[in-house]
Amino acid sequence: MSDTFVFESMASFIQLRDQFKATDTFGLVPTMGALHEGHASLIQKSVSENTHTVVSIYVNPTQFNNPEDLKKYPRTWEEDVKLIQQAGASFIIAPRYEEIYADGYRYKMTEKDLSQKLEGLHRPGHFDGVLTVVMKLLQIARPNKAYFGEKDYQQFQLIKDMAQSFFMRSEIIGCATVRESDGLAMSSRNKRLTPEGRKNAALIFNTLNSSAAFKQAKDVLAASQIELEYLEENENRRYIAAFVDGVRLIDNVAI
Ligand code: PAF
Repeated sequence: MSDTFVFESMASFIQLRDQFKATDTFGLVPTMGALHEGHASLIQKSVSENTHTVVSIYVNPTQFNNPEDLKKYPRTWEEDVKLIQQAGASFIIAPRYEEIYADGYRYKMTEKDLSQKLEGLHRPGHFDGVLTVVMKLLQIARPNKAYFGEKDYQQFQLIKDMAQSFFMRSEIIGCATVRESDGLAMSSRNKRLTPEGRKNAALIFNTLNSSAAFKQAKDVLAASQIELEYLEENENRRYIAAFVDGVRLIDNVAI
């Protein structure tokens, strides 16, 4: 296992980053911590494709529209560092709010179409927060490639589109959703489910996958104490958001 260096100061990381030659390639894997096998697969892909991989761990407050959700977001620093080391990344950047938002969030990235649908419709301001922090992380790490899981497909599309719109040099890469054996998409939020809720949560993927279940989704899910927020088709994909044990989970599949 090679060494992984942790940076809490972005100014120090930027100073180091600027010393690398152009022939050294960088991959960035942005995360909010509470890492799982899905994150490990992104990091491993980056490690296999770049000279250096940077993993960011930052629970970004501006993308949470619900303060309770932000408070309860799982934080597992020590396990995260171990997973990142084992996956072979060179650097962890873990910025502080004061440095990332030194401007007090006066400047933000806003998209006006796709970001208003699906997740954006149900979480006002969410994608402003996501796009803003990802723009900052891309500027800090200056990666050749940045990797995002397709569980958050709408997020991936918006980030890819933003990078293109602003002539950014980083290639934005989407990676297939990693699933548990019963189909549940791996998510940091799964850590908050009760054993019963975890068992029932498999229904979310089943609902997405079967057209019959799609029609009766609301009733089928309600029978297992799952509250459907939305189930929608948009441009050849089916998207879902639902609450299990009060934990909000999302998923999507191509149709
Ligand atoms: O997908 C996530 O974990 C977050 O939205 C991201 C991309 C790290 C931005 O905070």
